[in-house]
Amino acid sequence: MGINSIAIAAYVIAALLFILSLAGLSKHESAKSGLTYGIVGMVVALAATIALAVDHLSGVDGKWISIGLLIGAVVIGALIGLWRAKIVEMTGMPELIALLHSFVGLAAVLIGWNGAIEGFDPTGVDPGDIRSLTNIHEAEVAIGIFIGAVTFTGSIIANLKLSAKMKSAPLMLPGKNFINVGALVVFAVLTGFYIARDTHDDTTSMILLAVITVVALLLGLHLVASIGGGDMPVVISMLNSYSGWAAAASGFLLNNDLLIVTGALVGSSGAYLSYIMCKAMNRSFISVIAGGFGIEAGPADDTDYGEHREIQADAAAELLANAKSVVITPGYGMAVAQAQYPVADMTAKLRAKGVDVRFGIHPVAGRLPGHMNVLLAEAKVPYDIVLELEEINDDFGETDVVLVIGANDTVNPAAAEDPGSPIAGMPVLEVWNAKDVIVFKRSMAAGYAGVQNPLFFRENTQMLFGDAKDRVEDIISAL
Ligand code: TAP
Repeated sequence: MGINSIAIAAYVIAALLFILSLAGLSKHESAKSGLTYGIVGMVVALAATIALAVDHLSGVDGKWISIGLLIGAVVIGALIGLWRAKIVEMTGMPELIALLHSFVGLAAVLIGWNGAIEGFDPTGVDPGDIRSLTNIHEAEVAIGIFIGAVTFTGSIIANLKLSAKMKSAPLMLPGKNFINVGALVVFAVLTGFYIARDTHDDTTSMILLAVITVVALLLGLHLVASIGGGDMPVVISMLNSYSGWAAAASGFLLNNDLLIVTGALVGSSGAYLSYIMCKAMNRSFISVIAGGFGIEAGPADDTDYGEHREIQADAAAELLANAKSVVITPGYGMAVAQAQYPVADMTAKLRAKGVDVRFGIHPVAGRLPGHMNVLLAEAKVPYDIVLELEEINDDFGETDVVLVIGANDTVNPAAAEDPGSPIAGMPVLEVWNAKDVIVFKRSMAAGYAGVQNPLFFRENTQMLFGDAKDRVEDIISAL
């Protein structure tokens, strides 16, 4: 058996391992083994690719220099990846993921350009088929560059928004929907010209491709910049999906089956995840993937909600000790403060006193899917008292005290009550129906979506200011 057949068999094994990895990652209990399958699959795929390169370069001058460069690139990339993964904070994961998506997009653009410069290789092709196969090759080049460039700049904007280096509010250019649709039309027309031309190594073809690249880069910038903070979770999974399709397009250009399969897996699972998230957030899938299509800017919220009330930790402890039922709704601030450990201690103390304590988890609380569940599991909060939004939302009316720990957008009544709000229609935890609500945060600042929260000014709400970890520890001492 030649190296080629062994590599193809290795690719099939790697593809199966990637499928097992996705299946494993879909459940908490199997997530670790899912990761292991993914890592092993990637090692097999890299080894097979290097073996194929050794085989293809046999008899070529400077073969071992090329192989050395290839292995060097893999080792440098792997070391940087290991280092970044080791130092990244849990709250920094989404921005790191967005950055990694941008690399896939950039790689697809470079592979597309390489495919254009090298042109279609007619060796061994029936002369009658050369023209149509050349056209297919050119369509792959243009589509690969387009998806890759949209993914590249879109992911960079997502990274900047997620790392708060850029405002999360949506960019509302006049006629933004026409800009998006116009860019798609320009791409389709230019691609048509590019494919229809007889010669492809001339300056005009390169100019056409350069314009396609620039249009796609600008479209990626505009698509993601137009989406508001509250919809960013969907954008991340959408860019994940785009990066998969970009990789699949590269797979077609490079004739690499594994890249096609892996890209399609990432592309379709990312698209499905975006769809599920849109449903959970009551958002239109089409609107989000089309850069907020159909969403227009409402007037800025300058409502005067009146004065807020404050509470101190010892009074909060008293309220908790006298409560029969308590619900804790954690959010991004709990992750920032790393307050999950004292929160778990406080929960244990209250439960020991006979208080019924449960957690209400919003699907997009924090900065990544399942963020709060992971933190609470880390702090050994029992699974059976951690409930999803739809499991707990009807119970707030019978709850004595709700502790909103570092959550903001996910408990904002404006989503349910103000149709003009940028987060209108998004399901939220209806904490305001409880008898008393205590909000742990450091200031009156808005949440990630940049929207004012009327909850803080309600009669039954009291603000407990300060770092969430410090304040929960104060409550534990007072208890
Ligand atoms: P946010 O709306 O982001 O609000 C978090 C609050 O925590 C802030 O208002 C902040 O107020 C407070 N905070 C920060 N550090 C704190 C600390 N050390 N101690 C106490 N409080 C602190 O949180 P959320 O309710 O979890 O909502 C998540 C938002 O992120 C949603 O808009 C969601 O769409 C978006 N998002 C989610 C994801 C996923 S997949 N989950 C991904 C990207 C974006 P102060 O500054 O006043 O303290």
